[in-house]
Amino acid sequence: MTLIEEIQSIYEEAKTTLETSVSDEDLDTKKNLFIGKKGKLTSILKGMAKLSVEEKKTAGKVANETQTKIEEFVQEKRTRIKNEFYEVKLKEEHFDLLRPTRLSENQGSIHPVSQIQAEIEAIFTSMGFSIMDGPEVETDNNNFEALNFTGDHPARDTQDTFYTTDGKLLRTHTSAIQVRALRNLKPPFRIIAPGRVFRYEEVDASHETTFYQVEGMVVGKDISIANLIYTMETLLSEIFKETVKTRLRPGYFPFVEPGFELDIQCLVCKGEGCSVCKHSGWLELLPCGLIHPNVLEFGGLDSKEWTGFAFGLGLDRLVMMRYGIHDIRYLHSGNLRFLKQFKV
Ligand code: DAH
Repeated sequence: MTLIEEIQSIYEEAKTTLETSVSDEDLDTKKNLFIGKKGKLTSILKGMAKLSVEEKKTAGKVANETQTKIEEFVQEKRTRIKNEFYEVKLKEEHFDLLRPTRLSENQGSIHPVSQIQAEIEAIFTSMGFSIMDGPEVETDNNNFEALNFTGDHPARDTQDTFYTTDGKLLRTHTSAIQVRALRNLKPPFRIIAPGRVFRYEEVDASHETTFYQVEGMVVGKDISIANLIYTMETLLSEIFKETVKTRLRPGYFPFVEPGFELDIQCLVCKGEGCSVCKHSGWLELLPCGLIHPNVLEFGGLDSKEWTGFAFGLGLDRLVMMRYGIHDIRYLHSGNLRFLKQFKV
């Protein structure tokens, strides 16, 4: 066997041997058999000194090239070992992030207020409304001033709230989003805006400091009270899946003119009188009205050109009506025995 043939056979042997490596360490040990200090190829390279110049030229070149090829093979095998390692690990330790956990006693579920909010969003989007959002910490202008509670308007006293040290406040109603809609959307538009609101409130069976509302606003040309009543009645029959008794009373809110209170007959006591309806048989559910021209103007619209209606819906109260809950304090109590009843 010539020297070159010998080098070539070392190369073949090296490849076959290296290929059987199962780990990094194994690969290193096997590599050393060929190109380590005492490796087969190394000793050939060492022995070259004895060769003639001509042989050195040819065999030396082949030997050097072979060394490089073996190093490349080692490198490539190292990558393959690593990839195989991760492939196996992934298969063995596979876990599904989206898989539901074992059904446990305390598995969470969607809060009844969120459930009803989703239903209302579906009803209104099917009627061509968009859904809008706004921040819980609001400016005085958005929450009061631009809604026509100007200066120290007495109606501000009906909605006392919490103030931050930088002059902002926790919004008392989702009506603040009306101002954002007027200033940001191009009329005509139809929106609803669900959200959490806050009041500095004496807590009792029907009042909480934190509760949920859905605001509604329609702005267009020649919008009338008839449009308003039709929309409200459609909403209520969709929500309660039965015809509920309603009545319309005049109501005062600075941002609507005329303003109304749309009451529904109490579904908890069917009009008999209970703690939820304060023994009147009726429940204020849907304050509403035609948007006050000042509000349109504050929002940047010409009140001679544009008209609209707005309404506010108390979500907590709606949930209470639907399930016959007598005390609003249950809703945000975090009481699991209460919440588990609404699992869907
Ligand atoms: N923002 C009022 C409140 O929380 C409710 C309300 C009344 C909203 C009349 C409206 C409306 O959009 O037209 O007491």
